[in-house]
Amino acid sequence: MTAVGIDAIEIRTGRLKLDLPNTFAPAQGEDPEKYTKGLGLHASSFPDSYEDIVTMGANAAHRLMERKGLTPEDVGRIDVATESAFDNSKPVSTYVAGCLEQVYDGDFHHANKGERKFACVAATQAVDDAYNWIRAGRNRGKAAIVIATDTALYARDDPGEATQGAGAVAMLITEDPSLVEISAEQGYGSADETDFLKPQQQFPSVDGKRSMQVYLARMREAVEDFESVAGATHPDDYAYIPYHTPFPGMVRKAGLLGYRHMIRDTSIEDELADDIGRQPRREAFDDDETYEEAIRDYVDALAETDQYKQWYAATVEPTLEISRKVGNWYTGSVHIARASALRDAYDKDLDLEGQRMLVGSYGSGAQAEVHAETVREGWREEVEAMNVDEQLDRRYELSFEEYEEIHDAHNHDVDSDVEELTTPDSEFVFDGWGRMGERQYRYVE
Ligand code: CAA
Repeated sequence: MTAVGIDAIEIRTGRLKLDLPNTFAPAQGEDPEKYTKGLGLHASSFPDSYEDIVTMGANAAHRLMERKGLTPEDVGRIDVATESAFDNSKPVSTYVAGCLEQVYDGDFHHANKGERKFACVAATQAVDDAYNWIRAGRNRGKAAIVIATDTALYARDDPGEATQGAGAVAMLITEDPSLVEISAEQGYGSADETDFLKPQQQFPSVDGKRSMQVYLARMREAVEDFESVAGATHPDDYAYIPYHTPFPGMVRKAGLLGYRHMIRDTSIEDELADDIGRQPRREAFDDDETYEEAIRDYVDALAETDQYKQWYAATVEPTLEISRKVGNWYTGSVHIARASALRDAYDKDLDLEGQRMLVGSYGSGAQAEVHAETVREGWREEVEAMNVDEQLDRRYELSFEEYEEIHDAHNHDVDSDVEELTTPDSEFVFDGWGRMGERQYRYVE
């Protein structure tokens, strides 16, 4: 079976930066360590006043096409995943295609365009759609572009405000990909949940603590479902495990529970038994409460073992690197986690070709998806071509007052006129409103 997967990735961050421990925490009267140690976040990315989900998505896709030498005729599909859409009918992918057609001779009239919605898991679903389209032999030799793009803003003073972010990830899905092959096996954990939602409103209604429980429960189900088709997972099987990362502290919890699950009934559990005992088994307890308490004690002890710490430092911690600097990008989050992992391997000069990653996506509402990816021969060149550090370094650093203004500028209910803080350069920008209330864009040389 020919390999299908991700051929290339481009990341586009919002042009502004909010320093969380030094600027946001003091203004909120909070301890900076809540951010750096608790949530694991150092900064958030924000869009300047001329940026939005379309400009960030189109700019990422443009660089992707330029770098891979593509013309519109090479692309048979453009799918955008977002939870920040501003139109209930016209998909963001049409706006993105309209932008790209300003800078290319050809057009995307024969490309299928759509918009995927299931909170943060939607871009993984769009990658799935592209995978299936290619596997079904319906792509006529063409590639698919999948774009995850979000302005993950919360209402002012909502606890989620601490985890905001904005950016886009564009991915090229092809046969015989350079970066990673996606496994046919996948697992789902899905249930009707009310943890995070936006019922006809811009900013989310969130039950924060519950959303974390739902994330862990659905992720666990997805891993079990994946194992039912792919066989048991083991810590040694995967070079990296990129998770959906609303904030790194969430992944710290998921990583620990994932490790506990993977070592059950393995020699690692046996080796650890002298120090921390064996994992509690339900049949040994009279009721759920005492069993769950015993599990909590075991997990707390497990977190302190060298085996766990070494595994986490090598397999999960490196996936959080970009996220710490940009915050939550919703649909793009798991995809920047994968990119962080690949960059880590590149920086450490690891021989990653043929090694596997286990990728755990999650969307509130709620659904988790787990699949494996095998790293391909061309991964080094692809990582080398990313310019994410350059983009992160050139961000304009906001004062708290500027942050308040820029939050208002992107609040649909506030009529504000904010001067741009950065100067657009070779990129698509928002250019005002059309006669039917549509957003308009132009390319700035
Ligand atoms: N030093 C060190 N650590 C500190 C600290 C300090 N001074 N102060 C607080 N902390 C720790 C806390 O102990 C806590 O860690 P633990 O959970 O490990 O105990 C962490 O920092 C956060 O502190 P709080 O729980 O007090 O923070 P909060 O009440 O402000 O809320 C939140 C945190 C619920 C995550 C909130 O930011 C939120 O609602 N976020 C949006 C929802 C979200 O991201 N949910 C994640 C799962 S859902 C999902 O993944 C989809 C999605 O993308 C939204």
